[in-house]
Amino acid sequence: MSVLDDVASRAAELDAADPLASYRDEFVTTDGVVAYLDGNSLGRPLHATRERLAGFVDDAWGDRLIRAWDEQWMHAPTELGDTIARACLGAVPGQTVVADSTTVLLYKLVRAAVDSQAGRTEIVADTDNFPTDRFVVEGVAAERGLEVRWIRPEAGTGVTPEQVRAAVSDRTALVLLSHVDYRSGRIADLPAITGIVHAAGALVLWDLCHSAGAVELAVDDHEVDLAVGCTYKYLNGGPGAPAFAYLARRHHGRLQQPVQGWMGAADPFAMGDRYQPAAGVRQLVSGTPPIVGMLPMRDMLALIERAGMAELRRKSTALTGFAIEVADELLAPYDVRLASPRDDRVRGSHITLEHPEFRAVTAELWRRGVIPDFRPPNGLRIGLSPLSTSFAEVAAGLSAVAELLSPSRS
Ligand SMILES: Cc1ncc(COP(=O)(O)O)c(C=O)c1O
Repeated sequence: MSVLDDVASRAAELDAADPLASYRDEFVTTDGVVAYLDGNSLGRPLHATRERLAGFVDDAWGDRLIRAWDEQWMHAPTELGDTIARACLGAVPGQTVVADSTTVLLYKLVRAAVDSQAGRTEIVADTDNFPTDRFVVEGVAAERGLEVRWIRPEAGTGVTPEQVRAAVSDRTALVLLSHVDYRSGRIADLPAITGIVHAAGALVLWDLCHSAGAVELAVDDHEVDLAVGCTYKYLNGGPGAPAFAYLARRHHGRLQQPVQGWMGAADPFAMGDRYQPAAGVRQLVSGTPPIVGMLPMRDMLALIERAGMAELRRKSTALTGFAIEVADELLAPYDVRLASPRDDRVRGSHITLEHPEFRAVTAELWRRGVIPDFRPPNGLRIGLSPLSTSFAEVAAGLSAVAELLSPSRS
């Protein structure tokens, strides 16, 4: 048996033994795509979503017209937020909303947090974080006359509790970090870091974009202050689906977000002269909620609740573990380097492999129906969405990478 056949047959065994395998039938498949390895950028649609979207035109929108605002849509930001909180975040109701994009919610929360910390003049962030996080922090710092204290993570370790301890002080207003690193997939030590930030009297905001729906979270138990995340990755909300924000109940009424709009006002239809914020997390909403964009994620959240986050995490770890095993066998001989943790406990649901040829290789992979993504300067990011990705896709995808790197090809 050739090495490639052996990898394929091991993948087939893993799929046959996978208790979540039947969930794959719930997702729309795509002609010509042999391995979709980018569910961490844009999750696949579900069949149920097709019906939900069509039904929405006939039922809620077409039949109820504007009456549906009173009947159901006004509550959608908090009702859907509570569903995300229950299914994925480990948070009790009343602390999570769905609105805007991650970037806009980050802005609102960073501004609300720093403004609540009178006399504190610094925001701590890290240079490896996703661009939007860094840009928002820099923007708010410029707007409010604050300094940004940058943590520079060492390659391969991510932001460590020790680095956070060294960076925070009685000047720190807020620390903003990603829970799962968008490049390496490394999971930061959220409980330890949150404790360190609190000991310095500061607040912590966690970006959960690469965690929600992939890694178990317990934001209430770990006393997270604020969090944001997107819903088009592992929550399969579709392109441009709105984001979620979590604001711990103990901060309600104390933190005030800056984009004061009528939909976050205490009584939107009072058409009052002055802005009076809504009580609770509803205050984070600014304008009319994007109801259509909230539809697809409901189907994925139902699936996640059916399967349970513990099972999803188990499958996710098995998928990334298998991807590493196959990369060691097929790709290490071509000097491909793993830029993600080998330790299951600190690895999210994607891995990154590095090789100087990967920009060109990715373009050819897409032509062949193998779809990972490329992250400069030389990272091939393999995203494995626990309910929709098969072990066979991992095998087929990495075998195609091996074939493209093989010297016998040229
Ligand atoms: C870690 C992280 N934060 C923030 C964002 C930006 O989200 P949005 O485009 O919804 O503003 C992304 C997008 O991929 C991300 O990966």
